[in-house]
Amino acid sequence: MQALVLAGGEGTRLRPLTLTVPKPVLPLAGRPFLTFMLDWLRRHGVDDVLLSCGFLSRRVEEVLGDEHAGIRLRYVHEDEPLGTAGPVRLACDEGLLGERVIVLNGDVLNDIDLSAQLRQHEATGAQATLALVAVDDTSSYGVVPTDADLRVEAFLEKAPGPAPTNRINAGAYVLERSVVELIPPGRAVSFERDIFPGLVGEGLYGFLAEGYWIDIGTPERYLEATYDLLAGVVESTLPPRDETGSLVYEPSVTAGARIGPQSVVGPRSTIGAEAAVERSVLHAGVTVGERARIVASVVGEGARIGAGARVGPDCVIGAGAVVAPGEVVEPGERVEAGA
Ligand code: GDD
Ligand code: MG
Repeated sequence: MQALVLAGGEGTRLRPLTLTVPKPVLPLAGRPFLTFMLDWLRRHGVDDVLLSCGFLSRRVEEVLGDEHAGIRLRYVHEDEPLGTAGPVRLACDEGLLGERVIVLNGDVLNDIDLSAQLRQHEATGAQATLALVAVDDTSSYGVVPTDADLRVEAFLEKAPGPAPTNRINAGAYVLERSVVELIPPGRAVSFERDIFPGLVGEGLYGFLAEGYWIDIGTPERYLEATYDLLAGVVESTLPPRDETGSLVYEPSVTAGARIGPQSVVGPRSTIGAEAAVERSVLHAGVTVGERARIVASVVGEGARIGAGARVGPDCVIGAGAVVAPGEVVEPGERVEAGA
């Protein structure tokens, strides 16, 4: 079974973290984000994955290579951003696609039952079957009402006004070749705005997915996904967590510091004596001075935080940035990469 992962967005809502590290390989609980998706795909029998990359794409290839957990990985590079559907047409025109392909948004952590979605797709004879999940706030998603037979009635991408249902597009599609052929070649095309609305009534079905699902594309949801992985709310092959529910990757120096609860310390990090890291994520090679306190924050690779500095809550410090001794990064503040 073949899947194509859309991994070419710029990740603007996760800046400054994504200025230097592309969202698909941003560390989540210490592992390149896409490895969680690849493990999930493997569990559902996918063995051939095309990664559609644009922004900082070589870095994605460097990190993931040509194989993961028995899955063959190949890369499709686009010169200009082609949107969500354009990359699928490009892969097809390059002769890489079979008759049926699973297309995935590359910024989702989930354990929905893809095998059941494939079975439903077969049973209905659909042209396209979209996984749908229920959320409380639909405003940043594609809202997808269906009839009693699961036929999609409308596709409303980030439409203003009251939503007709709380079921939204989860970003996991099973598509027949006939759908790929509808995508105009050579330019940016959006499944959500240009393709799916026109397929309503033409064999477009929804699959009502259960289970864990989160789009990690904002700092708040990135932290939420981290806490859920640490707590084991979603299935993963992460190493065991310590008694505070935290993960400290070796080699790191943390003696005399207080790590936890719910924190991740990346490898090659040094946390000074009496410093505290609470509900926070430090990427690799972070240095934290003595008595500094980091709360509910994400700190990018190689950033240095001085002695006694206070960081948080919900601030984001980009890779390589320096927060000098005694400085305070206010709630919600962003320190750009390298600043
Ligand atoms: N290759 C490539 N090229 N990938 C792209 C491009 C592009 O030009 N633009 C976006 N992508 C990838 C992103 O990297 C991401 O993995 C996926 O396509 C979706 O883009 P987002 O920018 O994250 O979209 P969204 O989160 O606002 O909305 C989408 O996801 C929601 C679920 O999380 C839509 O599909 C919504 O309908 C859906 O509800
Ligand atoms: Mg997204």
